[in-house]
Amino acid sequence: MTRRGIARAVIAWQRQHGRHGLPWQRTRDAYRVWLSEVMLQQTQVSTVLDYYPRFLTRFPNVQALAAAPLDDVLAQWSGLGYYSRARHLHRCAQAVVGEHGGAFPSTSAALATLPGIGRSTAAAIAAFSFGERAAILDGNVKRVLTRVLGYDGDLSLAAEEQRLWAQAEALLPARDVDVYTQGLMDLGATVCSRRRPACERCPLAADCVAHAAGTPERYPVKTRRLKRSRCSHALLCLQRGQRHFLVQRPARGVWAGLWSLPEYVDTAALEAAVQAWPGQGEWLPVVEHALTHFDWTLRPLRWTLPARARMPVDLPEGRWVLLEEALAMGLPAPVRKLLGG
Ligand code: ADE
Repeated sequence: MTRRGIARAVIAWQRQHGRHGLPWQRTRDAYRVWLSEVMLQQTQVSTVLDYYPRFLTRFPNVQALAAAPLDDVLAQWSGLGYYSRARHLHRCAQAVVGEHGGAFPSTSAALATLPGIGRSTAAAIAAFSFGERAAILDGNVKRVLTRVLGYDGDLSLAAEEQRLWAQAEALLPARDVDVYTQGLMDLGATVCSRRRPACERCPLAADCVAHAAGTPERYPVKTRRLKRSRCSHALLCLQRGQRHFLVQRPARGVWAGLWSLPEYVDTAALEAAVQAWPGQGEWLPVVEHALTHFDWTLRPLRWTLPARARMPVDLPEGRWVLLEEALAMGLPAPVRKLLGG
């Protein structure tokens, strides 16, 4: 298939089998497109469908988002994960208002200079909002393109990744770049999956080098994969009457800036902390939580202080809040669940 044939096939397939009618596809407003792209970076469409309209109700335009406290933005992001996205989102909104007069720049090159907008996201926003012929290359699209082209360069190497960017640019159609871009994303998400791709449904199968070789799972080639580690902590779910005790996480690191439960290095350290406290405790089921770089085992202890007990003096700095208040704060998903939300 020629380069033009590939683009044509993707466009025709998107029109017939791709995803349509999603809320962010009904607009060219860069603020709405940008928000959807950031949410969709690491989150499935079905989840974004839930968060996106709520976020827009609370922050209907870039000015509203820029003016809001970070805490409010994190609260709206609560449960979506990858919270650095929310912090970048906030900083980006402030840059758009402070440095661009409240209007998103209209080229992918200018968009890519803003906080949290990488080259691929910049290209997606520019294609969807402004019809710019700009290539995207996120994880899903890397998979589609390396397979179709039989591109076996090691993408751990910057030079190989650059070469693939050049190939992605060479494939761009002259027209309908928005449909093409959406088509590549949809193919990557719904057909050309990492394991067991559905080649029988793929419009590019007849010309796919990896399919012809019978080894689509070999692509993309990446020798240096992220090394995952594990770690484990104990968490204190402290309650007194109707109130729960929450602490704000530091501005850096995991769950930065979110509200969470006091954390201890292990169960012994937590038991030592509570041993002289009034009230009673029970260990709750262990929570396994996967983050980008490590798997986290959390061992929660629920400790209930008598309603009129004096506060333990050795508590970290934090806030006593009603469940309803807590659930409106920026909480990581496992903490929300532990609190009963
Ligand atoms: N992933 C990133 N952007 C997307 C989009 N616009 N549609 C579907 N998946 C995506």
